[in-house]
Amino acid sequence: MQDTKKGLEDVLALDTSICSIDGRQGILKYRGIEVEQLGQMSYDAVSYLLIHGKVPDQRELDSYSKKLRSERYINSDILNVLNVCNYGSEALDSLRTAVCCSAHMDTEKDDSSMEANMSKSIRLVAKFPTLVASVHRYKTGQLPIAPDENLSHGANFLYMLKGKVPTELEADAIEKDFILSAEHELNPSTFSLRITASTMADIYSAVITGLCTLKGPLHGGARKGVMNMLDEVSHPENAEKYVLDKLSHRQKVMGFGHRVYKTCDPRAKLFKDIARRLADEQGDSHWYDVAETLEHTMYREFMATKGKPIFPNVDFYSAVVYKYLDIPPELATSVFATGRVSGWVSHYFEQYANNRVIRPRANYI
Ligand SMILES: CC(C)(COP(=O)(O)OP(=O)(O)OC[C@H]1O[C@@H](n2cnc3c(N)ncnc32)[C@H](O)[C@@H]1OP(=O)(O)O)[C@@H](O)C(=O)NCCC(=O)NCCS
Repeated sequence: MQDTKKGLEDVLALDTSICSIDGRQGILKYRGIEVEQLGQMSYDAVSYLLIHGKVPDQRELDSYSKKLRSERYINSDILNVLNVCNYGSEALDSLRTAVCCSAHMDTEKDDSSMEANMSKSIRLVAKFPTLVASVHRYKTGQLPIAPDENLSHGANFLYMLKGKVPTELEADAIEKDFILSAEHELNPSTFSLRITASTMADIYSAVITGLCTLKGPLHGGARKGVMNMLDEVSHPENAEKYVLDKLSHRQKVMGFGHRVYKTCDPRAKLFKDIARRLADEQGDSHWYDVAETLEHTMYREFMATKGKPIFPNVDFYSAVVYKYLDIPPELATSVFATGRVSGWVSHYFEQYANNRVIRPRANYI
């Protein structure tokens, strides 16, 4: 047998036409389109692109958006479960419970035809924002707010979260957050989802697998870790000491480093720009300054001690964006999942269409 590769680093596990990453040049594409360009589209259009493999024309987009908007509602049984299941657990745990309940209640749950799976994927993409906002409302002692079909995917999410229609810039920021979080090749949650899909389990089971994997602090949970770090550091003048303390104890600084990118994660650059614009709109550069000082200190220390740089990843400046959008740290991983669900269901379809059960070997020692 061959040697094992710890963490499956650089192992090519399968073929995909959904996403490509050039880790050396820092280029990320969904279906052949660079993320910088995707940011000019709506989340609905990007979600359609991921799932159907083509940019929708106006008629296709209108029809897809209409379906998504009409599927935003969640029923009172799910709301009751979320209300009852409010034991101080993490928001992501409540979201997972809500997705499990949605699976039970889906009238097409036992139908694995392409058509039924497509309807289920639309329901998942459409309902995630409502589920996450409702989780937050119950956790903060407030009643959930019904979706507004006149608002975009992102604007409606912020409206349901806070009960206030967001500014244009805030709506644009969360829409871009969902787009930039939507897909990233064989990241851990997508890989685990594809394993579940490869057993021919249903789409809800696969998405729940993805959610469970996303939770960990080395994956989607890092966004929450960055938000907590920003609170702990609190002022730019504390940032340098924070980094030096962490590195001297050989601890990780959340939101830095990446398995695939050897240069700056292109999503981090885009998130940094969004954070800058929110800071300007709010006339408050505090969180941006804390983050930038952390970034500069990490870069300098890695160059000095390892002779190579380290860059922020997707979770770093997205956490700063969440700060400006007043999204609490506890909700960060669930908001990430709200964007990622389009990528997950796309991978479910790709696995299903050309399936062989994923079953590697272990080296017995
Ligand atoms: C993303 C991550 C899991 C990649 O893991 P990986 O490819 O297995 O890389 P490693 O954890 O082996 O790191 C390689 C080296 O860089 C260091 N390093 C990597 N990320 C670091 C970080 N965020 N803070 C401090 N040191 C870091 C490691 O300590 C290791 O140093 P060593 O060679 O002296 O032991 C890792 O960078 C990390 O844990 N980052 C923090 C969590 C995070 O932000 N996750 C979100 C990912 S999008």
